[in-house]
Amino acid sequence: MKLLITGASGFIGSNFVRYLLDKYPDYSVINLDKLTYAGNLSNLSDIEQKHSHRHQFIKGDICDQRLIQELSPQIEVIINFAAETHVDRSIHENSRTFIETDIIGTQVLLDAVRHNKNIRRFIQISTDEVYGDIPIGTSADENCPLRPSNPYSASKAGGDLQVLAYIRTYQVPAIISRCSNNYGPYMHPEKIIPLFITNLLDNQPVPIYGAGTQIRDWIHVLDHCQAIDLVLHHGKIHEIYNIGAENKPEITNVALTESIIKILGKSESLIQRVADRPGHDERYSINSKKIRALGWQPQYTFQKGLQETIEWYKSHRTWWETIKKSQKFQAYYQKQYKSW
Ligand code: NAD
Ligand code: TYD
Repeated sequence: MKLLITGASGFIGSNFVRYLLDKYPDYSVINLDKLTYAGNLSNLSDIEQKHSHRHQFIKGDICDQRLIQELSPQIEVIINFAAETHVDRSIHENSRTFIETDIIGTQVLLDAVRHNKNIRRFIQISTDEVYGDIPIGTSADENCPLRPSNPYSASKAGGDLQVLAYIRTYQVPAIISRCSNNYGPYMHPEKIIPLFITNLLDNQPVPIYGAGTQIRDWIHVLDHCQAIDLVLHHGKIHEIYNIGAENKPEITNVALTESIIKILGKSESLIQRVADRPGHDERYSINSKKIRALGWQPQYTFQKGLQETIEWYKSHRTWWETIKKSQKFQAYYQKQYKSW
């Protein structure tokens, strides 16, 4: 199988490419990535060595219609991971790039699917954040209305709506997956879990927004990869699949922070309470019965996944230090501090 995987130099895309090429010796991948601040060629340096003949990297933008048209005739499947993904940046920086990549980029890929019948499957990697804040005691299933709360989740919802419109109007062979918050190796240190692990490793404070009572349904990235594999091979065209760990008990940001501090043997005095994120979603919760009925269930418990992830960041200091020491990250973090 020949796949176009977009955004595969980012966190989840790189984990997925590694998983896919290791598992399927006859698959080959074109990785199309714009290498924004979040894209990192070193995320796939092992793959470049191990599977160089089956991994082709192209630096490019999913909004570039001509480039996508050029690549399309050789492709059987597109999996679209490419996106602007950080909620805080979508709030505090210009959110136009979110609309460009997450909506227009998706539309450009959908047009390629529409006009190239050799592309027999398009998977849109979406997020549970499109459902917005979910009241305690309830969970969103795939039919729930989209109620995004911030520019990031609104741009992802816009991408999803384009996919649904292209399914209805042009019958493109598309599927949407909506996963909960991922964690694991190669996650950019702007996001809470890697930010807190790496700050604590350097005995730096960890900023909890507001009350810290917010709930996210943390899922290990390899469990997400297995679910995408299942959707790729056995998912029904035109369907939506929620993918969630359904952690019990649910994990608040304070509980998450305390777990990381405990595993690292650090002091709780490093917790710093800062101003809340504007429009902060209190709780995400999805019902993932539909994908579980296809035969998927997460393999990681949160404790095991968190422990392994902490070990990974301990043994990959150069990887995250390079990012955190970069001018781009420093500028972002200073600005973020000011917003508190
Ligand atoms: P990431 O920010 O780590 O990586 C995004 C990648 O996309 C980067 O390599 C970046 O260079 C690339 N990219 C950005 N704009 C591009 C463009 N216009 N053209 C080509 N490449 C571009 O993100 P991630 O956490 O790996 O998320 C991947 C996908 O999964 C996203 O669509 C995100 O919405 C979705 N998702 C993420 C999570 C999560 O917890 N991280 C959960 C559910 C769904
Ligand atoms: P994040 O990792 O940015 O993912 P998302 O906003 O997409 O869920 O944030 C996860 C939760 O952690 C969210 O409730 C915001 C909170 N948070 C903090 O309290 N402090 C931080 O420094 C960051 C980055 C996030």
